[in-house]
Amino acid sequence: MASDETATEVLTPDFESYQVAETVSAVDSDGRILTVDWSDGRVSRYHAIWLRNNACDPVTFNLDTREIALSPLDLPEDIRIATCELAADDVIAVRFAPEGHDARFDAAWLRLHDYSNGGRQDDAAVEKVFWTTAECPEPPSFDGSDILNDRDTFAAFLTAVASHGLARLRGTPAEPGFAEQLASHIGVIRDNNFGRIWNVRVEPGSGSNAYTSLELAPHVDLATREYQPGLQVLHCVENTTRGGRAMMIDGFRVAEDLRTEEPDAFHLLATVPWHLSNRATDTDYRWNAPAIVLDAAGAIVEVRSIYFLRGPLNAPFDLVEDLYAADRLLHARLMDPQYRMLFDYLPGDLMLFDNRRILHGRKAFDAAEGRRWLRGCYLEREELESALRMAARRRRTGANT
Ligand SMILES: [Fe+2]
Repeated sequence: MASDETATEVLTPDFESYQVAETVSAVDSDGRILTVDWSDGRVSRYHAIWLRNNACDPVTFNLDTREIALSPLDLPEDIRIATCELAADDVIAVRFAPEGHDARFDAAWLRLHDYSNGGRQDDAAVEKVFWTTAECPEPPSFDGSDILNDRDTFAAFLTAVASHGLARLRGTPAEPGFAEQLASHIGVIRDNNFGRIWNVRVEPGSGSNAYTSLELAPHVDLATREYQPGLQVLHCVENTTRGGRAMMIDGFRVAEDLRTEEPDAFHLLATVPWHLSNRATDTDYRWNAPAIVLDAAGAIVEVRSIYFLRGPLNAPFDLVEDLYAADRLLHARLMDPQYRMLFDYLPGDLMLFDNRRILHGRKAFDAAEGRRWLRGCYLEREELESALRMAARRRRTGANT
């Protein structure tokens, strides 16, 4: 049971093809709701107006672009299901009143968009795994030697980034152009004032501690921006130094532990904005955001922690001392070895990580004894999510493109 994109009739309002194991046992309607009984016993329900909005025909959709052609005002307020029947090939035919409009629905599409039984799961949804170093001592690692052609490894690599916040490719070409190649293979690179692709190596006078041999405290990049980059690529072209160990911390794990063990501190850090400022000679980026950003449901969506790019705190007077105390608790955890993953970059290693979740830093190294050269760039989380949905679509359809 599947829609066939090569068939004349278009049965789904998108460019996908759907298959499910279950078949339709019966369909019925009381005029307002279509009820579908499935072979596994599930009963799904769909409102008439929802069905009319998703009817896959040239009146409702532009079938070239699959964008909706019907405005909300074109949906009859008194829409009803006049008739419904199970047609051949698990297609459900519906006639709407008062228009007399006929539509045919692919049963597999209906099954996978069943909002009456908990809703549809996003194809890019990956269960998050929060980690300490005991649970995740090394980055999840994958063979990068043919990563631009190896779709299965590429999808597994991206899935690990979605779950653990970071993953490593080993054995990629240790060439200056590879960071850009790999990032472009995921999606669109985010440009910024440090350059579309930038170098992390000793460059005197560059205006950033990143471009020295100094230790870098764990931080997230570009927290001074309204929309902080969601992903970061770091690719090792050369490393002949001793020292300079990379460190990465799961900021979501630290923040969740803080929520459990220090709830008052967590509340302050999640509600009172810090002033962030990059203090450069030729740009002046600033933003205000709490150190821990929650969504409407209370889930942690960002850890915006970079103390060395904070401007003067501009918080309510009575909260200042408590906020500093809460910040001390957060930073004590960021110094705690149980959260600090340490590893060395070998030439050809590439790290991809969530820049709004994973804090990164490094130990100091001696610039006189060797060279350490990383190339990096940013993308947004939505590029990872789009790539994961396309990988899921290819698995469903068996398509090669
Ligand atoms: Fe950084």
